[in-house]
Amino acid sequence: MRAWRIGIGAVALTWVALWGTAHAAETIHIKFSHVVANDTPKGKAAEKFRELAASYTNDRVKVEVYPNSQLFKDKEELEALQMGTVQMLAPSLAKFGPLGVKEFEVFDLPYLFENYEQLHKVTYGPVGQALLAKLSPKGILGLAYWDNGFKQLSANRPIKDPIDLKGQKMRIQSSKVLDAQMRALGANPQVMAFSEVYQALQTGVVDGTENPVSNFYTQKMHEVQKFMTLTDHGYLGYAVIVNKPFWDGLPADVRSQLERAMADATVFANQIAKQENDKALEAVRQSGKTQILTLSPPKRASWKRALIKVHEEMASRIGAELIQSIYQATGFDPARL
Ligand code: LMR
Repeated sequence: MRAWRIGIGAVALTWVALWGTAHAAETIHIKFSHVVANDTPKGKAAEKFRELAASYTNDRVKVEVYPNSQLFKDKEELEALQMGTVQMLAPSLAKFGPLGVKEFEVFDLPYLFENYEQLHKVTYGPVGQALLAKLSPKGILGLAYWDNGFKQLSANRPIKDPIDLKGQKMRIQSSKVLDAQMRALGANPQVMAFSEVYQALQTGVVDGTENPVSNFYTQKMHEVQKFMTLTDHGYLGYAVIVNKPFWDGLPADVRSQLERAMADATVFANQIAKQENDKALEAVRQSGKTQILTLSPPKRASWKRALIKVHEEMASRIGAELIQSIYQATGFDPARL
C-alpha cells in the first residue's frame, strides 16, 4: 500500500515538473498602451514592434497594442506600468515629471534642436542613455527613444508674432518647461491629458495647443482650430519603457530577441517620423479647415529671442550641466540667437 502511494506521488511530481516545463514555454503577453492614433509615428512603430516581437520569438511573445488612450490616459498609464497592469509604454518625454524624473523635460526647451540630426546626437548618444538610466530606481527600464517631430502652434486666431499668444489658454503636457514656455509668451498654460484635447478645443475650454502635425491631424484638431503656425519651436518624442521586474524576469533568449525587435522597430520609427508629419501637414492643408501660416527667417528669429530665456529659467529644475551637455552635443550656442 505504502509503495503504491509513493508510486502515485512520484507520478504526480513528474507531472508537476512536466507541466512546469510546458508552462515555461507558454505565450508571453505584453500589453503596450499608448495615447495616440495608430496612424501616427508612435502608433506605426508600436505595430512594427508587435510584428517583429512575434516573428523573432516564433510567436512566443504576443504584444497587444492598445492605442488612443483606450486603456489609460497619460498619468494613469505610468502608474499602470509601475503596478505591472501594462508592461510597455512610450510616453512623450514631456510626461516624466510627475514620476519624479524631471530631467527629461530638457527635451522640451524651445528651439533646443534645429533638426532631427541634432536631436539624434543626444538620443543616440551618452546623454540620452544616462537619462534613460534614471528610470531604473522607479522600477522602469528605458529601452529606446522614438521620434515624433517638431511642434507647431495652433489657435483660433492667427499667430504670427510671439505677442499674438498673449492671454490665450493653451493646452500643454505636464512639463514645467512647457508651462514656462507658454508663460514666456504671455499665454495661460493648462495641463491636460491628450485624450481630452479635442473636446477642450471644441468647447473653448482652451483656445489653442501645440503638437507635431501627425498628432494634430489624427486627433482631428484641424476641425476645431482655425490657424496653425509652423513654428517648429520644440521637439516631441518618446521614451519606450517597460516594467523592469517584468523585463528582468523574461527568459534570457526571449529578452534578447525582444531587444533585437526593439532595435529594429526604433530604426523604423525614426525613419518614418518626418514623412508621417509631412503627410499629415499635407492632409491638414487639403482639408481646408485650418489655415497654415509660415514664418519668415526674421520672424522665426524673433520667436527664438522671445523663448530662449526659458533655457536659463529652467536650469535650476532640470540641471545647468545637463543643458550644457546637450549644447555641446549639438553645437547649440544661445548667444548666436
Ligand atoms: C501629447 O500629450 O500632446 C502627446 O504627448 C501625445 C503623444 O503621445 O504623442
